[in-house]
Amino acid sequence: MKVLVVGSGGREHALAWKLAQSPAVETVYCAPGNAGCRQAGKVVDIDVEDASALADFAKAQHVDLTVVGPELPLVGGIADLFQQRGLALYGPTRAAAQVEGSKRFANELLHRHGISSKKFAVFDDAASAKAYVRRQGAPIVVKADGLAAGKGVKVARTVEEAERHIDACLVEGVFGEAGEVVVIEECLEGQECSIKVFTDGETVVPMVPSQDYKRIGDADTGDNTGGMGCYSPVPAVDDEIFRHIVENMITPAVRGLAEEGIVYRGTLYAGCILTAQGPEILEFNCRFGDPETQVVLPRLDGDLVEILQATVEGRLSEVEVRWLKERAVCVVVASGGYPGSYEKGKPIKGLQEAESEAGVVVFHAGTALRDGQLVTNGGRVLGVTALGASFAEARERAYRAVSKIEFEKMYYRKDIALRAVQAAE
Ligand code: GLY
Repeated sequence: MKVLVVGSGGREHALAWKLAQSPAVETVYCAPGNAGCRQAGKVVDIDVEDASALADFAKAQHVDLTVVGPELPLVGGIADLFQQRGLALYGPTRAAAQVEGSKRFANELLHRHGISSKKFAVFDDAASAKAYVRRQGAPIVVKADGLAAGKGVKVARTVEEAERHIDACLVEGVFGEAGEVVVIEECLEGQECSIKVFTDGETVVPMVPSQDYKRIGDADTGDNTGGMGCYSPVPAVDDEIFRHIVENMITPAVRGLAEEGIVYRGTLYAGCILTAQGPEILEFNCRFGDPETQVVLPRLDGDLVEILQATVEGRLSEVEVRWLKERAVCVVVASGGYPGSYEKGKPIKGLQEAESEAGVVVFHAGTALRDGQLVTNGGRVLGVTALGASFAEARERAYRAVSKIEFEKMYYRKDIALRAVQAAE
């Protein structure tokens, strides 16, 4: 069969890499992909937001399954368009993708179905929002309701900081339409983790848990990024917590949507926090995580395409999903300056040496080929994943592989998975 992966980051390379391993898959296309995706298949120059051109391509090339990486096309309704055109696509419809597309929708869903007790309020005028923040006090979380390229959420440590974010959203229009409504949430404390599931709207099959590192600097300092590394499983998520989150939080959300006429088919990603009072869901995403996919898929012991097809066809209950016991650690290698401004086009050396380390696979994110030379082409450049019998082994392998890679102004965090190694000791 032929599959098409939509997107161009490390997540999409990991999806293409895993799909290419399936005996049923003869061709993997990636649109637009990156230099790494060329190892798994063919890259096609179509923008992720051009749903109509992607559907034309899928139709013309007789693509059997399209798998969407990023949230933007899903929230924009790519699944609906493919459905109308009789094309199979893995990912939720526009209505279902609201779990990520609207923070208000997600919070109201969780409360309607008794899943969350997190306090929240919704505003479209700055004066009322600020009065609410002053009554509640800080720390407090202010979120632009819609998609804001990862910049819409502010964990405000002071009332003034919260007020500035309210102004950015509701007065200055920094986030455009996405910031015309703000959701203000109580600030919860605890370790974060993400639990993703495959679901066809009825059956819910969890993936292994993972934890990512959002800040740019060691010891969680500096600006927020798309994710600087991650590991799986998560020692803090024991069997009981895992079962509770899957059975009492994620499954009721899927069932609740179905009762309301929204069949959720695809990956549902719950960003969770483990508070002293128990786990809470901080946010939903309507897709695989990045870089979490780079530690989750290497631990999948089986055929990804079989799971995705069964999900799309509403027969996920027929598939057995197994996971490797090995630990996985992914270290993201970034361009110096990221998440601020950075340069592109820097030649990358040492990848072969890195990939020849035991248990290591290097996923490309911001890479391109220029005149046959591999060069940097984004903020997050590579995700170096290693599997190992222990966190210590996986971590050691990942960092040894990273040490073989070289490009000008290369940057990476030095403390990825250290917490997991210490917890496992
Ligand atoms: N790493 C966070 C995300 O994928 O949303």
